[in-house]
Amino acid sequence: MKHFLEVGNLSNAEIEYVLELSEYLNEMQEESLLQTNVLFCFEKPSLRTKVGSEVAINQLGGRVIHIDPNAFLGGKIMHAKPIPGLDEREALKDTVMNVSQWCDGIFARVFSHETLLTLCEHSEIPIVNALSDEHHPMQALADFRTIKQTYSEEKVPITFIGDANNVARSLIEMGIRLGYPMGFAGPEIYGWSAADLAHFEDLCKYHDGSFTYFQHAKEAAISSQVIYGDTFISMGEEDLHEEKLAHFDGFQIDEKLMKLCPSEASFMHCLPAHRGVEVTNEVLDAPYSLIYQQAKNRMVVSKGLFTFLLKEQNVNVTEKIKKLYQLN
Ligand code: CP
Ligand code: NVA
Repeated sequence: MKHFLEVGNLSNAEIEYVLELSEYLNEMQEESLLQTNVLFCFEKPSLRTKVGSEVAINQLGGRVIHIDPNAFLGGKIMHAKPIPGLDEREALKDTVMNVSQWCDGIFARVFSHETLLTLCEHSEIPIVNALSDEHHPMQALADFRTIKQTYSEEKVPITFIGDANNVARSLIEMGIRLGYPMGFAGPEIYGWSAADLAHFEDLCKYHDGSFTYFQHAKEAAISSQVIYGDTFISMGEEDLHEEKLAHFDGFQIDEKLMKLCPSEASFMHCLPAHRGVEVTNEVLDAPYSLIYQQAKNRMVVSKGLFTFLLKEQNVNVTEKIKKLYQLN
């Protein structure tokens, strides 16, 4: 059984396969998830991940069950009066083992990545990360579908400008693995830790991609074909709003910055975007902006990913790719 908590949970062949399978299922409308029930548990708000994936699962004949995270992840709220020692409804192990008897997968958006690791410890069904504080691997799958649709197999340089967290980490990890020159520009105080940098360096040793840390957004733009943005204030960081924003001065993505890029450059953003904060309206609404194509692809790649994880883990990937090409 395979979980998908981070990009590294899939081999390169599996990433390519999930993208191909997504393509195929989206065209053929096959009911690959018939009789499949997926539990959705979201600790934070979501539009694209939640709705896009639910539509994908529905279109493939599967079903989604939504559960209140308070009831699922420890059940903290069950008593009108607190009872010492009895303040949780049941142990997470019991909840997860019960769900494993009925459902085929759990799709969870959590504050702490540790929560997903704990779910995996107890689960007999695949856990799929719908975003944690550290990773957003499904977003990266959709983004590389978008990049391939735009630039075919050309390994264009891609630079993320902003905060070094979930979306950026998964994008950079997948990019290096798939052979792209990846860049990052952002304020040092919200940049990568030494451990993250060592991890990227390590990935570069084993894969064809590269990683460059740019001091300034302008320096990044000059050598990037794709500029990628995300909010400066992530969900759960609202209290840090003022303190954090001050440090991002000079990292807004605007038309002037985009003009420094080579011709045919594109802009990407995972959304939600804060118009006028990390990126201007002109850039979000420009012909070179790929934001709605990315959003559409969130739905498309969910098809391949859920089918692969919940229905097909036991088949040899290379054989499956061959079979798929024959079907095409
Ligand atoms: N990009 C993304 O994950 O969007 P949502 O937060 O709306 O799911
Ligand atoms: N970094 C953002 C991504 C939202 C999809 C957040 O965690 O809120």
